[in-house]
Amino acid sequence: ELSPIDKAKFVAAKKAVEFVEDGMRVGLGTGSTAAWMVRCLGEVVREEGLRIRAVPTSARTAALARDVGLDVISLDEARWLDLTIDGADEVDHEFNLIKGGGAALLQEKIVATASDRMVVITDASKEVETLGAFPLPLEVIPFGWQTTKALVEEMLDSLDVMGRTTSLRMNGAAPLFTDEGNHILDLHLNRIGNVRQLAMVLNQIPGVVENGLFVDICDTVVVGYGDGRVQLRD
Ligand code: A5P
Repeated sequence: ELSPIDKAKFVAAKKAVEFVEDGMRVGLGTGSTAAWMVRCLGEVVREEGLRIRAVPTSARTAALARDVGLDVISLDEARWLDLTIDGADEVDHEFNLIKGGGAALLQEKIVATASDRMVVITDASKEVETLGAFPLPLEVIPFGWQTTKALVEEMLDSLDVMGRTTSLRMNGAAPLFTDEGNHILDLHLNRIGNVRQLAMVLNQIPGVVENGLFVDICDTVVVGYGDGRVQLRD
């Protein structure tokens, strides 16, 4: 028997898999909700004999996708994708997202941007009025990261954000390394007034590889509830 939160993630994932059609190239997100989707997709592909090729957004998702029998290819092999299904950490009413809680935001953003359609799967707790309560992940190059951090804080001072605390994400006692060999800075902002502007200025700072704000990328949101209901927003 699933807990309400797992049930919510599962029903959203199951619903989103209905968008997958025979012959599609599909991007697979990362995180616990996306993991439900990968398992559902494996089942559907087996049962219905769909021929799909899948592009994962992390080493973790790649391993799971192979486990459940999906045909895994690289983004360079696929080049463009029909559909990407991924989770998120926050979703606002314009379908702007914060992603990267699972440290996979860089590959996730590249894959979602290469897709005709991005479907986000989430439980209702992640729907917010204004983004920013969830710390915004920023992928930075390890070289000179403390200088990059100082530059980011200076930039935040000049913007419409409430907080400006930044922290290096750790993996036990050592800094976390992403799949691409970078670090993650988490920006504790509380409230992001101008999402579009922040997304743009952060990427101007040398040493910043990518930020976890997804603007104009998500097309459809599937919200799952603990009692098994699902709502589609698009
Ligand atoms: C991974 O980097 C993130 O973008 C995930 O999509 C996000 O953290 C959602 O994860 P959960 O589904 O585990 O909440």
